[in-house]
Amino acid sequence: MKPPRPAFADDLAASLQEAFRLLANAVPDRRSPLHTPTVATLDESGAPSLRTVVLRGFDADARRLRFHTDRRSDKARGIARDGRVMMHFYDAALHVQMRVAGHAMLHLDDAVADAAWAASQRSSRMCYAAPDASGAIVASPPAAPKDSDIGRPHFAAVVIGFHRLEWLWLAAAGHQRARFIWDDAGNLTADWIAP
Ligand SMILES: Cc1cc2nc3c(=O)[nH]c(=O)nc-3n(C[C@H](O)[C@H](O)[C@H](O)COP(=O)(O)O)c2cc1C
Repeated sequence: MKPPRPAFADDLAASLQEAFRLLANAVPDRRSPLHTPTVATLDESGAPSLRTVVLRGFDADARRLRFHTDRRSDKARGIARDGRVMMHFYDAALHVQMRVAGHAMLHLDDAVADAAWAASQRSSRMCYAAPDASGAIVASPPAAPKDSDIGRPHFAAVVIGFHRLEWLWLAAAGHQRARFIWDDAGNLTADWIAP
């Protein structure tokens, strides 16, 4: 028996609504593949640089995504140089890919970073407690740090304000790809595009 066609099929507005629903769900749902997107930044030579991160926040009204990182990392340096980023999400079970383009801001010692740190679990804080800067050459793989709270000076919250979202839903009856672009005033243009 064929699976029922989802309500968002053939409907641009409903596809965007579904994209936003999935992103909102991906923040708390640690089992969702959308919880760990790939983020692309630009390195100092202008080349792309990709890595997995944990999606920590999504604000549909403000069109913002958030992840956390070590401010000593290459990606933090890349974002400080050039905030243009893209986030890639793929859920094989849902047959959905999303590509989200925006501008990233590093929050280091402000209220955004403080709130993100305060809401972080001990195991997450531990990532920032390492004495060696992320990316530093070390003699051997370092042991896990013992004190999770000393990492705050290394912690950064990265907030991405996005202006483009591309939705791809793979369906046997025909793949559906849509592009959503917001201008500086927040006006949305939505189009189907050839998959
Ligand atoms: C499942 C998973 C989740 C990760 N989450 C984060 C994260 O939230 N933030 C982060 O900075 N690095 C995270 N990493 C590590 C990065 O992928 C990357 O290896 C590291 O941050 C160094 O990246 P950079 O040298 O490009 O800065 C994660 C890796 C994996 C495999």
